[in-house]
Amino acid sequence: MTLHVITHSLGEHLLASLRDQSTAPGEFRRLARSLTAILVTEATRALPLKEIDVQTPLEVTVSRVLLETVVLVPVLRAGLSMLDIALELIPGATVGYVGMQRDESTAIAHSYYCKLPPLRGCRVLLLDPMLATGGSAIAAIDQLVDAGADNIALLCVVAAPQGVARLNEVYPDVAIFTASLDRDLNAKSYIMPGLGDFGDRLYGTV
Ligand code: PRP
Ligand code: URA
Repeated sequence: MTLHVITHSLGEHLLASLRDQSTAPGEFRRLARSLTAILVTEATRALPLKEIDVQTPLEVTVSRVLLETVVLVPVLRAGLSMLDIALELIPGATVGYVGMQRDESTAIAHSYYCKLPPLRGCRVLLLDPMLATGGSAIAAIDQLVDAGADNIALLCVVAAPQGVARLNEVYPDVAIFTASLDRDLNAKSYIMPGLGDFGDRLYGTV
């Protein structure tokens, strides 16, 4: 397993405000977008490249562009907050959607939606801001693998040790990029210290 905990001063600064319970939904969405830009930049740092000829205003030069198609897959709902900026950074990406909902009492995730573009041979970036028990990410990855994905990375804002360990057990080849590896889960499977319910904080639901 590869766990990348991003060390970035601006990332830490943004995460501090995301954690702050007084941050209102509009600001929360803006911060999530900015932090996602850092996660996407890190997760794409070493993607394979191919050479192409580019005509500048002065001459032809050899340049390098992404070799593989990138597929962005936000996990509904909270992962939607990460999609727009990821698409701005990688406008050639295709997009799939996976809907997952945790049962509030058992924390077990069930899938309610799945629509995916071709995945085989592509670099799939799964976007879900919270990796808690790992149930949602694993159920989402099950669907990606069934649909042919063979190269998947998970981008999350905050990860819990339990979710990282479980994901590593089930899918050791999936790299995790996160802004923070937090301390623990509480009795209701919320990440501690975490930032609360990401979807509720994004959209003002309770
Ligand atoms: C949250 C979050 C993850 C999941 C993480 O979604 O966005 O998908 O919980 O928890 P897990 O690792 O224990 O599965 P939630 O089910 O609350 O749905 P929402 O995005 O619609 O709010
Ligand atoms: N989902 C969230 O939104 N927050 C948590 O802490 C755990 C799961």
